[in-house]
Amino acid sequence: MKSVLFSVFFLLLPWMIIVIIMIDFDGKRVVRAPFTGRHGGTHAVTQGVVTKNQSALQIIYAITPTYTRPVQKAELTRVAHAFRQVTRFHWIVVEDSTSRTELVTRFLRGCGVPYTHLNVYTPQRFKRKGMPRATEQRNLALTWLRQHRSHRDPGVVYFADDDNAYSLEVFEEMRDTRAVSVWPVGFAGGRTYERPLVSKGKVVGWYTGWRAGRPFAIDMAGFAVNLNVILANPQALFKRQGSKPGMQESDFLKQITKVSELEPKANNCTRVLVWHTRTENPHLAKEVKYIKDKDTVAVEV
Ligand SMILES: *[C@@H]1O[C@H](CO)[C@@H](O)[C@H](O)[C@H]1NC(C)=O
Ligand SMILES: *[C@@H]1O[C@H](CO)[C@@H](O)[C@H](O)[C@H]1NC(C)=O
Repeated sequence: MKSVLFSVFFLLLPWMIIVIIMIDFDGKRVVRAPFTGRHGGTHAVTQGVVTKNQSALQIIYAITPTYTRPVQKAELTRVAHAFRQVTRFHWIVVEDSTSRTELVTRFLRGCGVPYTHLNVYTPQRFKRKGMPRATEQRNLALTWLRQHRSHRDPGVVYFADDDNAYSLEVFEEMRDTRAVSVWPVGFAGGRTYERPLVSKGKVVGWYTGWRAGRPFAIDMAGFAVNLNVILANPQALFKRQGSKPGMQESDFLKQITKVSELEPKANNCTRVLVWHTRTENPHLAKEVKYIKDKDTVAVEV
């Protein structure tokens, strides 16, 4: 009896091993799927998400003002690596310069992101400490959208500065913005993070370390606006007159929405998916010392 049992066991053993190996293979395929999905992030990428009709998604228009400085190309490279992975994405890059520079032109050609390249020079009198920055550049991008897009183009507008770090998830969150959506921003407002306070699915206040009395105490990277709202409010622009640094967001949002109408994203504004990291200025003192000893080759940095 015992020997019969043994022979049955050994007869079945190879088959059991084959079945175990096949289950293991299947398991690996399932595990690997999220990493190959275009959306990335921590969501389990189910078949439904991967095969979702992409042309039905609203296009994200990311507006990035930029200006010539030692770290410019490094910053643009870093943010482009995130943007390139976002489906249905259009990058509007606006240079603070009298013409489109060769460096940015070349960079954009090779960056792998669909883009529009614009430029407008900030008048010298506004280039002072205590003045809001990138006003003219953001406004030019808004004007471009109003001239080149219509109510038939579903889209979401996001002010994506080049000194931030973006998770791919922040773009998933803003994608279905109906009017104006909001979420937390890391390292903003003088604290580890700044966020809209949400109660019963509505924004009721702000968690911040700086000017809590602002009507919208939010960083530029913490909100997105449906393109239709931009088109329906042609007068809505970033203001020079009477606007102080740090009040630009509030002054702009006041023109297009109310706090009670904001759409909280990122799990009722409890997850940080974008960080106002900024890049430390590189130490370039030796450039002055060796000013007469320049490289014989022109190297773009
Ligand atoms: C995808 O969505 C677009 C826009 O809603 C629609 O025109 C198109 O027919 C859809 N395609 C498929 C395969 O469902
Ligand atoms: C946000 O809060 C509302 C109201 O409390 C709740 O119904 C909803 O499920 C919450 N959303 C998320 C993503 O947690």
